[in-house]
Amino acid sequence: MPVSAYLNTSMTKRNIITLPDPLLRKSSVDVERVDDELRALMDDMLETMYDAPGIGLAAVQIAIPRRLIVMDVNYRGEDEEGGEMPREPVCMVNPEIVVRSDEMRVHEEGCLSIPEFYAEVERPSKITVRYIDREGQEQTRECEDILATVVQHEVDHLNGKLFIDYISRLKRDRVIKKFVKAAKGMAVA
Ligand code: NI
Repeated sequence: MPVSAYLNTSMTKRNIITLPDPLLRKSSVDVERVDDELRALMDDMLETMYDAPGIGLAAVQIAIPRRLIVMDVNYRGEDEEGGEMPREPVCMVNPEIVVRSDEMRVHEEGCLSIPEFYAEVERPSKITVRYIDREGQEQTRECEDILATVVQHEVDHLNGKLFIDYISRLKRDRVIKKFVKAAKGMAVA
């Protein structure tokens, strides 16, 4: 049986952790080897991301603190006729941003671990990222526009950093407080 067929039948949607889960603030560890087990994890992450729906997900967001991110910046769920949009998944293992442009871009970001909160964040508009792909090959890719933003957002996750760290302290404290309150409410309910 082809590996891809096997993996497709075993894809599982995972739970996404949210604020104030302390794991979101931990640094993830390097992935040591790209094997079928890791590819199955990539597929689970993609399934979880598409289902959310989202355009990027770091492994730590499903409580696996390893340096692995998946993205599909063009995915918008269903098209106007209700059909599924074509998928163009990108998986990056041990991604490292090696070049950042001086030119910046602003994007209204959100995060599957901070549901229903959005804020404008300014980041370099072009980056070069080095990573290992699904087949275990080293790659270097230049990214711009939204892909540059999403790669930086996801790599931040691997370092325990969240997009709310770029907004004012007042706004950040307010959103954290809201999630802490909600979590406490769920605990006693
Ligand atoms: Ni995020």
